[in-house]
Parts: sequence; structure tokens; C-alpha cells
Amino acid sequence: MSSAPVGPLGPVVRLAPAKLNLTLAVVGRRPDGYHLLHSVMVPLALADRISLAILPGERADRLHVTGFAAGPDRDNLVVRAIAEARAAAGGAAETPALAVRLEKRIPVAAGLAGGSSDAAAALDGALEAWGLAAGTPGDPGLAVRAEAAARLGSDVPFFLAGGPACVEGRGERVTPLPAVRGTPPGILLVTPRLVVPTADVFAVHAASGVPPNGATRLTSEHLAAELRDGLDSRRLADRAGILAAANDLLGATAILVPGLVAFRRALTRLLGRPIGQSGSGPTLWVLYPSHGDAEAAARTVTSALAAGTLVGPGDGEPFVAATSITGELPGPSVGNDTRSER
Ligand code: C5P
Repeated sequence: MSSAPVGPLGPVVRLAPAKLNLTLAVVGRRPDGYHLLHSVMVPLALADRISLAILPGERADRLHVTGFAAGPDRDNLVVRAIAEARAAAGGAAETPALAVRLEKRIPVAAGLAGGSSDAAAALDGALEAWGLAAGTPGDPGLAVRAEAAARLGSDVPFFLAGGPACVEGRGERVTPLPAVRGTPPGILLVTPRLVVPTADVFAVHAASGVPPNGATRLTSEHLAAELRDGLDSRRLADRAGILAAANDLLGATAILVPGLVAFRRALTRLLGRPIGQSGSGPTLWVLYPSHGDAEAAARTVTSALAAGTLVGPGDGEPFVAATSITGELPGPSVGNDTRSER
């Protein structure tokens, strides 16, 4: 007898948000070479969109990607995520082939974890498409999902948490944090058109032999504590200077992409605000009390790029976007996705 639960009637549609590291402390190294981290991570309104629909009678999954180029489909983390979902389903349901459409709005290899977010959304979305949504009979459960996420990549477990979180270990220890209070903080993202592989940045960091920086860890722990106590957008924006400096990978990224240092300085002069780097870069972020403030800053940057008074490193003009920190990740939805992304 088949144990197949009934899946949704329409496609499962998810927004897969970008993430920002407000802090990133490298606190040690594991024997296998992975670095131990302490990071406050937040999801952004900027998101990829993924839809998964059952392909009746077909044997192989199909992936169609639009937007930012993400390399050959076979290398897409979404393909591996669906394989992990099949393994996690473990015979609790039939797992027919899926047609997956992925709209990439997040720049790739940019420090925004777009690929990891797509993978988390695909893992969860595939299970839902097969009738194994969280909390239903046959749901493989949180621990199995978390282990699968960690196998897919260090940033993937964060996206299962559903909001801001303190991330430790290699990325697999995720402790949810309360959202920033009040108006969602605005974020200006400026991503030079350069591919900066995370592995290269960590390798340069390791080779440089810099010992763990206790100050970054303290800033990271302090921010996590402040969020737990209830921090609002304005007070978060007041901390932009301290947060912009609290990334232990800044030096390694600068060695790999020397032009990024001058670009960061030029942005500081243009906007008069501290400029941070998300994760291993090259995305730079600027924190504002509201989305409207970030939009005004985006216009300033776009005009300066058009006028040639600001020139980014890399091939072509940087990607510039005003977005905001979101309190919670968008939940599952089926069918047409009509949610606002602000
Ligand atoms: O886990 P993920 O495949 O996303 O990591 C990419 C690379 O970045 C790893 O192979 C490793 O070189 C480096 N990394 C690290 N420590 C982490 C996360 C990533 O050294 N915590």
C-alpha cells in the first residue's frame, strides 16, 4: 500500500531571501579546516523566487533559472537540495519529479548567500510539494532538515531558522534572535561585478595567520544581547560604525580584491556613513533607519556611477539595491505569490 500523502494542488512558491552578516567573528578553526564563527545574521527583503511543481509521469527533475547567472544547472545547489529532500523523505511519501523555476534576483558569489537560501527553500519546498510539509505526518522533522541543510553548505541552516539569528560553529548552530523593533531598517547594497569565492577568502584568512580578534567577537555577542533586549532600527543604525568594522574577513577580501578598499572609501566619502561588508564580500552594505533612507542613498550612488564620479572595481557597473532587514522569513505559500517584498 502506498503511503503517499496528498501534496498541494498548485506549485509551491517561496521567496528565498538574501542574508547580511551584521557581524562576523572568526573565532577558531576546526581540524577539518572549516572556520568557527560567531555572526549575527539577518534576512533581507531582497529575495530570489523559487517555485516547485510536480511533473506527473516524468522521471527527472527540471530546473529553469532566470536572472543573475548561476553557472551550469547541474552545479546549482538547488539540485543537491532536492536530492537531500528525497533522502530525507525516506520513503514516507512518493517523491515524483519536480519542475523547478528559480528567479535569481540576488547577485551570486557576492556574500549574500543567495545560493544557500535557494537551497534551503528548495529543501523545504520539495518536501511540501510531496505532501511532507513541516508538522504533517511523514515530516522528517527539524533535526533531519537541519542536518541536510548543514551538508548543503555552511550558510544553509540559517535560512531554516525563519528570521534573524546568532550563527555559531561552522554555521550549523543557529539561535533565533528577535527582530529589530519598529520600522524595518533600510539597507543599501552595493555589489561590484566580481566573483569572490568564499573558500578563497577563508583560505587567504587562514594563510595570513591572524589570530582570532576578541574585539569582533565581543561586538557580535553584544549585538546579539542587544537584539534579545529589544533594539529598534534607529539605535541599530547608530551602531553602524562599530558593525561595519566587525567583520574578520575584511582583510582577506581586501588582499584578494585590492580595488574594493578604494571603492569602500569612495562610498564612505559619497554617503558620509560607515560601509560594511557582508560575509566574505564583495557586497558592501550601508545601514539606514528606514527603507526610504536607503532608497535615497541608492539614487545618490546610481547618479555618481552614471556621472563617473564613482567607479566600481570589476566588470561593469556595480549592482545597487535599496532593501530592508526583514523580521521573519516569508512562510510557505502555494500558487501565485502576491506578497510584497518590502
Ligand atoms: O560550507 P560551504 O561549502 O558554503 O563553504 C565554502 C568554503 O568556505 C568551505 O569549503 C571552506 O573553505 C570555507 N568555509 C570555512 N568556514 C566556514 C564556512 C566556510 O572555512 N565556517
